[in-house]
Amino acid sequence: MTQPITGDESSVSIAHTIRARRTLREFTNEAVSEQLVMELLNDAVWAPNHGLREPWRFLFVPTEQKGAFIEHLLPAFDTAQAEKMRVYLHAQASAFLIVIMPDKGGHDKQWEEDLMASAALIQNFQLLAWERKLGVVWKTNDHNWNPFVRELLGVQSGEKITGMLHLGHFKEDQVPAPKKPRTRAELKTHIFGNITVREEPTNYEND
Ligand SMILES: Cc1cc2nc3c(=O)[nH]c(=O)nc-3n(C[C@H](O)[C@H](O)[C@H](O)COP(=O)(O)O)c2cc1C
Repeated sequence: MTQPITGDESSVSIAHTIRARRTLREFTNEAVSEQLVMELLNDAVWAPNHGLREPWRFLFVPTEQKGAFIEHLLPAFDTAQAEKMRVYLHAQASAFLIVIMPDKGGHDKQWEEDLMASAALIQNFQLLAWERKLGVVWKTNDHNWNPFVRELLGVQSGEKITGMLHLGHFKEDQVPAPKKPRTRAELKTHIFGNITVREEPTNYEND
């Protein structure tokens, strides 16, 4: 790859950023500032969202609060799991950003739109963060549905956690290579009017 992994937005194309971004699970010790996260979120909220309902709100756990946050979270796990979780959460995050969306039950049209808008917001955030060398893992661990965790995080009965984002700054040598290349879109595209060209079924991996 000849272009830099990250850079200022005037010199790096959106296509390059989309391709270069990787999920990061290893970070430096540098603290994640609230100012940076708010700056990124204020751009990310320009995600498309139907009805302009802006179906998201956020809970930020800054680096200085990380230890206390993890200790508050641990009673959600049994004793054997809790120690593993303590190690895992300390090692794989410098700060946390929890994205919460409305969830009135009944997975209807509006719920799907809101879920997808919320996902678009998270991807905006991941790409913007990448440009600033802030790494993200979008976590959908089971504990996001745990009533104890929901209460701890102030998630209301008409809401759900779309993602717990683990955040941390990274150096270029901490960026993993992609596990495998993405399948070219042509292999997953039928052209209307020419539908017999590809007869084998689409392969959705890990279905
Ligand atoms: C909706 C969603 C949920 C995810 N949940 C998790 C998760 O719970 N744990 C995790 O380690 N990574 C999670 N990921 C990150 C994916 O594993 C990651 O995007 C994938 O391995 C591709 O790697 P890349 O982001 O570097 O391209 C999630 C990603 C998405 C989009």
